[in-house]
Amino acid sequence: MNPLNHVAIIMDGNGRWGLKYKRSRNAGHKEGLKTVERIIKQSIKHKIKFLTLYAFSTENWRRPKKEINYLFSLLENFLTNRIGELHKKNIRLKIIGVKNFSSKLNKLLDGSEKKTSKNTKLQINLALNYGSKFELINAFKVLQRKGEKISEKSLSKYLQTKNIPDPDLLIRTGNTKRLSNFLLWQLAYAEIFFERKFWPDFTVRDYDRIIKEYKNIKRNFGKI
Ligand code: FPP
Repeated sequence: MNPLNHVAIIMDGNGRWGLKYKRSRNAGHKEGLKTVERIIKQSIKHKIKFLTLYAFSTENWRRPKKEINYLFSLLENFLTNRIGELHKKNIRLKIIGVKNFSSKLNKLLDGSEKKTSKNTKLQINLALNYGSKFELINAFKVLQRKGEKISEKSLSKYLQTKNIPDPDLLIRTGNTKRLSNFLLWQLAYAEIFFERKFWPDFTVRDYDRIIKEYKNIKRNFGKI
């Protein structure tokens, strides 16, 4: 059985769910947050150590301002109300991506990361204003500036995922089969599961089923 240390998730389909059931994309984001909470709990049950969630990509800035503002207000409320509870549960929060939000949100993010920095049960990496191509180009630029030799190891030091092992498993909901500029380097050997369901409909049972299937895959890493 394969060990499962790190799960990465592209939480897709909120907008379509919201339009289908509530005639509002934002209602889908609100419902999607409930799935986030369920999956965090279930990840702890499975003794997963790292859970990386794609919450906002560098491309998501192209959405209408109203939707962007709503997403960040959800995040602000979530952190304000729940960070204490996450901390009590020994969960660490880490942001990957460029933190160039309002000073209020930047402060909240920094404070949440700092408060939970010593926690060890589960590390949640929240990808916010994250884009993998930008991350890679930036890492190569740092290597070039420092005159360091280019290697897998040296490059990894300058990625936002420094000190985080690569994901074993990637799940994308929402019936779309693409990576959308997410962890392109880090997912080199991940097992990938594309789910038809929209993220708000994704259940703990769906998660358990994928994990079970993942555990039984023969992972070769290029060997036979
Ligand atoms: C993709 O669905 C989802 C997002 C861009 C945002 C994900 C946000 C949440 C799950 C809620 C907030 C999370 C936190 C941690 C506060 P989409 O809108 O692209 O869906 P679509 O493909 O149906 O349009």
